[in-house]
Amino acid sequence: MYTLSSATMPKTLQVGEKLVTVQQRLGAGAFGVVYKVKEEATVNEYALKDVVCEDQSELIAVMKEIQTLCKISTHENVISITAAGGYKAQGLQHMTILTEFYVGGNLNERLHRPSSDLMNFKWMRQMTAGLAFLHSKNVVHRDLKPENVLLTATEDVKLADFGLAKEFVVVLNAEARLTDDSWIGEYAKHYMSSEAGTVSWMAPEVFKHRYTEKADVFSLGALFFSILERDFVTVNGKRFYGAFGRPYGQLFAKKVGLGYAMFQSNNQGINVAFSEHAQGSIIMQNITLNALQYDEDERPTAAEIHQQFEELRKEMQFWMKEVSGNYCTIS
Ligand SMILES: Nc1ncnc2c1ncn2[C@@H]1O[C@H](COP(=O)(O)OP(=O)(O)O)[C@@H](O)[C@H]1O
Ligand SMILES: [Mg+2]
Repeated sequence: MYTLSSATMPKTLQVGEKLVTVQQRLGAGAFGVVYKVKEEATVNEYALKDVVCEDQSELIAVMKEIQTLCKISTHENVISITAAGGYKAQGLQHMTILTEFYVGGNLNERLHRPSSDLMNFKWMRQMTAGLAFLHSKNVVHRDLKPENVLLTATEDVKLADFGLAKEFVVVLNAEARLTDDSWIGEYAKHYMSSEAGTVSWMAPEVFKHRYTEKADVFSLGALFFSILERDFVTVNGKRFYGAFGRPYGQLFAKKVGLGYAMFQSNNQGINVAFSEHAQGSIIMQNITLNALQYDEDERPTAAEIHQQFEELRKEMQFWMKEVSGNYCTIS
């Protein structure tokens, strides 16, 4: 799969029942180019993901992304799909996915600027709510990172980019896990060919080619870490936020994704800790470190973390009322 420059993108496009006009390029990842578009009839704005499919298998991959989106789009913290379509240009088959447009952009860009403790709490709670929902619908995201977390005008979270999402049944089937390495190859390839290069949010067990939905929980921990610690690596002049480490015994080696460092060192001598500059209460930091545990069986489920956040939210609301005398909603 490869992406085309905006020069080859038609100005006006039919996506399902909607006729849209392309306005500007919003971003691009390994699998597609995303544009902001406007519906001719209503002047409503949407985001349009344009993916070029070189062969049948790539076409099937996009169809699967659409199918997954239709299944999980109903949750308030998951990107909402509006329509899907396809067109041919210069002999190439394109697939298009039309979704709601989120004016807050992606979290990686947002992390360049400071945010309050309450905002951090909201992001972490909402990401977990979205992920717990995905897992309850038997969907593994497999590509959770700040660039795939979008923000609305009120800075509410929408989990996005289901290009690598898979239905659990495949992942949990031990036989399939042992024999079907094809999609793991695709996963690794994606990471290596993505803009982020060596940056990775992948869990250590992913590099061993055997993992479950708990790998998403590790990436969730890396997302939490990126929010509270604001550590980053620079690739091609661009900052990528996440959780990083250096393989054991390689003090001067380049920082790599924490999961990869753990895998390379066989979890020897990797110390995951917050610096004294990190934001967040001890509770928030501990939730993060728990999600980043090497052993997937030690990591809580997304549903368990979600429960923890809900309890914290209730407590915070109670204390706010005690302090200010007013009932205050923590979002
Ligand atoms: N609905 C949207 N609203 C606003 N920006 C979006 C939207 N969808 C995608 N983007 C922007 O485009 C980038 C790439 O989108 P994504 O779905 O992650 O595609 P890819 O599979 O190419 O990585 C995102 O990081 C974000 O900056
Ligand atoms: Mg992406």
